[in-house]
Amino acid sequence: MRDIKDDVDNIIVSEEEITKKVSELGRILTEDYKDKQLLCIGVLKGALMFIADLVRAIPLPLQVDFMAVSSYGSATRSSGIVRILKDLDEDISGKHILIVEDILDTGLTLNYLIKNLKSRQPASLEICSLLVKKDKQTSGIDPKYVGFTIPDMFVVGYGLDYDENYRNLKFVGELKKEILGS
Ligand code: IMP
Ligand code: MG
Repeated sequence: MRDIKDDVDNIIVSEEEITKKVSELGRILTEDYKDKQLLCIGVLKGALMFIADLVRAIPLPLQVDFMAVSSYGSATRSSGIVRILKDLDEDISGKHILIVEDILDTGLTLNYLIKNLKSRQPASLEICSLLVKKDKQTSGIDPKYVGFTIPDMFVVGYGLDYDENYRNLKFVGELKKEILGS
């Protein structure tokens, strides 16, 4: 049996750290949205695990929807040209939107999404990103809710992929050099 954990060199954020952070964010979001109609929008596929855990940490009436976008680029870099593969099912006007993202890297994807969603007149729009890469130019995006700030490196796990693999790791880690190279 091949265990995907063996392809990882360093654990950057452990399963325990993720669990703790998700409950902490859940508590803050519960307080911030207690009197508001909240719609959490997960950005597929990377935010899959994060949004599933996060909404279960918010015991409020809330709704969940998804968008799927593809940003053209290589396996490890995005280009800023974004295409909507799956749009929202419902109208968002007048609702309080929380975009749930896996990682903020160049910010090009979120920049596009924010513009797109703001044009649909939500009551408010905030970003919750599990990870933010440190010292990166993130297109001026400053998410209100952040799980972890990590070094500028390529990571996988807990939703994040390399060439569509490793999303099912329970932690966030760095792949071995020989795998990224191949
Ligand atoms: P952007 O550069 O901020 O537009 O990042 C867009 C998307 O690229 C993120 O939502 C992720 O899906 C993906 N991405 C960026 N950095 C990483 C990484 O380190 N590992 C895996 N996916 C990443
Ligand atoms: Mg993503």
